[in-house]
Amino acid sequence: MIIVPGKTSKKLAINLGKELGASCAEVEITRFPDHEGKVRLDTNLDNETIILVQNTYPDENVVELFLLQDAIHEFNIEQLITVIPYYGYARQDKKFNTGESISARALAKHIELMTDKVILIDIHAKTILDWFDKPVIEVTGMVLMGEFLKQYSPDIIMAPDKGAIDRASIVAKVLGSDFDYLEKTRLDGNTVVMKAKELDVKGRSVAIVDDIIATGGTIIKATNELKQQGATNVYAACTHGLYTSDAIPKLVKCCDKVISTDTLETETSVITLAPAIAKSIGKLE
Ligand code: R5P
Repeated sequence: MIIVPGKTSKKLAINLGKELGASCAEVEITRFPDHEGKVRLDTNLDNETIILVQNTYPDENVVELFLLQDAIHEFNIEQLITVIPYYGYARQDKKFNTGESISARALAKHIELMTDKVILIDIHAKTILDWFDKPVIEVTGMVLMGEFLKQYSPDIIMAPDKGAIDRASIVAKVLGSDFDYLEKTRLDGNTVVMKAKELDVKGRSVAIVDDIIATGGTIIKATNELKQQGATNVYAACTHGLYTSDAIPKLVKCCDKVISTDTLETETSVITLAPAIAKSIGKLE
């Protein structure tokens, strides 16, 4: 078994190699003057199971993914498993307006052309799994997130909305803590309040868990409201720390801790999902 690391997933690939007792291939990615990319694999992959670890974010990684898959197939490999730590375009999982592409589906259809199996992580919408005709599995980072959060002993695990409650419940189960979700209520044209559906947060510490933090807007609003309602500490934890719009300094200002996994390698990536991905490889049929 050999791991082929994409350029934005190097640490995760190395950790995955350690978990699986596999080495990492030498990958060279260069750019022509017009910025088109070229990939070259400097390791013999013949007769091996190959695990390619590559994000589909930002855009140039989509092309690099296809080039890497193609380069891998230049060898006489046993099989290719494509691990996509962060599946970019997952949030356009339906047509919001007539005439739009279903971007998440478009990616699925192209990714599976040159792979035998696919592993996705905390995918934004389950429906994406249905768009793959090849074997596909979703790994969750929530168990390892729960383990990591033990050091902060949060009293309540909070989902930012009802749709995210399953993820919050997995984290809460690991910690043995309560869980709930935030409900939005519009008070007037300008005011929307966020409040825990069932639980009183007064005097309690809360960890908000989400799949993605992008602009940070959801977490910042939720944190401010929870603190106003008396929460002692608010921790923000996500699988994919996308952090657009200079989100980290804004988040750090209001949250007591900002935590993410290494699906996107950033300064908040304190949890490696390598053990969860390694475990899932045996389950792929
Ligand atoms: C929404 O469905 C997602 O689970 C996240 O809550 C959302 O992407 C976060 O976005 P932002 O950080 O921009 O508020």
